[in-house]
Amino acid sequence: MPRKAPERFHKSPSLNEVRYEIRGELAHRARELEARGIRIDRLNIGNPGIYGFRTPDHLREAVAERLAESEAYCQEQGLLEARAAIVARERRRGVRRAAVETTFVGNGVSELIDVALRALLAPGDEVLVPAPDYPLWTASVILNGGQPVHYACRPEHGFLPELAELEALLTPRTRALVVINPNNPTGAVYPEPLLRGLAAFAERHGLVLMSDEIYDEITYDDARFHPIAPMVEDTVCLTFGGLSKVHRACGYRVGWLSLSGALERADDYLHGLVLLAALRLCSNVPAQWAIAPALEGPDTISALVRPGGRLHASREAVRGAIANSAFLDAPPSAGALYAFPGVDTGRIPDFDDHAFALSLLEREHLLLVPGSSFNVPYRNRFRVTFLPEASMLAEHFARIERELARLADAAWPARRAAGAR
Ligand SMILES: Cc1ncc(COP(=O)(O)O)c(C=O)c1O
Repeated sequence: MPRKAPERFHKSPSLNEVRYEIRGELAHRARELEARGIRIDRLNIGNPGIYGFRTPDHLREAVAERLAESEAYCQEQGLLEARAAIVARERRRGVRRAAVETTFVGNGVSELIDVALRALLAPGDEVLVPAPDYPLWTASVILNGGQPVHYACRPEHGFLPELAELEALLTPRTRALVVINPNNPTGAVYPEPLLRGLAAFAERHGLVLMSDEIYDEITYDDARFHPIAPMVEDTVCLTFGGLSKVHRACGYRVGWLSLSGALERADDYLHGLVLLAALRLCSNVPAQWAIAPALEGPDTISALVRPGGRLHASREAVRGAIANSAFLDAPPSAGALYAFPGVDTGRIPDFDDHAFALSLLEREHLLLVPGSSFNVPYRNRFRVTFLPEASMLAEHFARIERELARLADAAWPARRAAGAR
């Protein structure tokens, strides 16, 4: 029988609950304004290359030198030389069981987050995800048939998880615990005792521990990053890392996933990971040549994050702007590339993060990300990246302050009138 052509073509219902607002409607609107010749300043995305950061020369040269050897598919888990460098680094960090057979190179951590969850989840399985989170984690759990269960990392607690609360979120369907350290979007860096507590919690309940450590070497002042993998013996630990941030090579699309811990109980899961890696043949080969020089060559990030370095200066500029604001508050970012300030709803009672982001874009031509895009229930925060130069950030925050003052004025017309008398 001839089929009637559909009136409209619809996206899959599996996408209905999936959101990624960092590149969502606001970013589209920004592009429309730019197409009309309006200059938009961006605080919305952690993409070092668009703010003048360069990938270190020795990585670029390594890729160029090996281009002629990059024309074939490689082994599905990645070039052996690259995986060996990842394993050597994990071992230096005390991860005894890291091995090339249980290491995967992917097209960014993004691809590997999807692969790791797809290989694990049955429909309805639950995954403990931090709130706020990097929203790909929540999206990937949903896309793979799982149920994200968010655990709160509250501002009043330095954006750190509270171990006692995690227990109450467990159900017989809980399969995995996601940790993002250093954290996007909050800039929190987790102290060692907390990480030990999270590792023990995952071990006690047989959860796969997935630790997104893509910002591992981006910490400021006294903050110290601790990898969680060496703390895990009695369950499976997945460590995610990559070249995008520490090595400022987002466009190379290189990430890795290293399994460790109770691998003797993970052979079936490992088969699933290998199968999914094979189905996509392999990840981009030329860029994989940058992995060994990145992990074994000169350190290029410390000079940026220590006092006097560009990232340190930018983070200080953001910290200063928040401290001097009449409306904003946030614990200082200890790591990563972001701050997640909150707006005083005593001063602006109806503050709505989306409405604010839109009016800031339309009036001040500045793009940031509303806090609720990061899967939190409140709507009084937003995320900014501190990748622009410090002087630019000071100017951008002056515009944010101006827009907040407008909103405060509009919220309290009576007070304004009284002030005018
Ligand atoms: C916490 C976190 N994980 C993963 C990613 C994705 O990184 P990649 O470029 O390796 O796909 C990002 C990117 O911003 C991130 O912030």
